[in-house]
Amino acid sequence: MAAITVHDKAFSIYLPEATLQKRIRELADAVNTDYAGQKVYFLAILNGSFMFAADFFKYLTIESEICFIKLVSYKGLKSTGDVTTAIGLEEDLHDKNVVILEDIIDTGKTLHFFLPQLQHQQPRSLKIVALLHKAEMTKFDVSIDYTGFVIPNKFVVGYGLDYDGLGRNYRDIYQLAAD
Ligand code: IMP
Ligand code: MG
Repeated sequence: MAAITVHDKAFSIYLPEATLQKRIRELADAVNTDYAGQKVYFLAILNGSFMFAADFFKYLTIESEICFIKLVSYKGLKSTGDVTTAIGLEEDLHDKNVVILEDIIDTGKTLHFFLPQLQHQQPRSLKIVALLHKAEMTKFDVSIDYTGFVIPNKFVVGYGLDYDGLGRNYRDIYQLAAD
């Protein structure tokens, strides 16, 4: 489909399925190469990354485990900003090769506040795969090790990404149409 409507807004096609799949395979191949002979524990961040994580995971050939976690931010607990904790992380990450799977990094705030919690568990290594990166919007320090696409600051939906809960079900990624 060239265009969709989600709630009250019009979106036009931006990254079609074939483009996404080709790039996701390249990302997985890079991870396969970099971790050859090692085991990796993937942490997929819900909700947005569920489709990306499922496709990416199918291209892996290394020994791989996966866990889906949800991040919850609490405001006002600390003067320094939000405190983010994970729901669903049961495994201890000590001495594991951990790779985070994120659908999109925008300001970088979510991961910036979450990463120290993971580092605290002393994983052997910790890397980030992000399908999309709104680079010009990123204000918080987050080093992304594998980036699918650097995109401009326009709202996107589809392939797991939502606008107010809707739009996750499309195979392609759509961009907010100019109004
Ligand atoms: P950050 O903490 O600012 O990096 O925000 C990351 C989160 O914001 C993502 O995991 C998404 O849930 C959401 N987000 C940011 N930009 C978009 C977008 O264009 N479409 C849908 N969700 C977005
Ligand atoms: Mg997300």
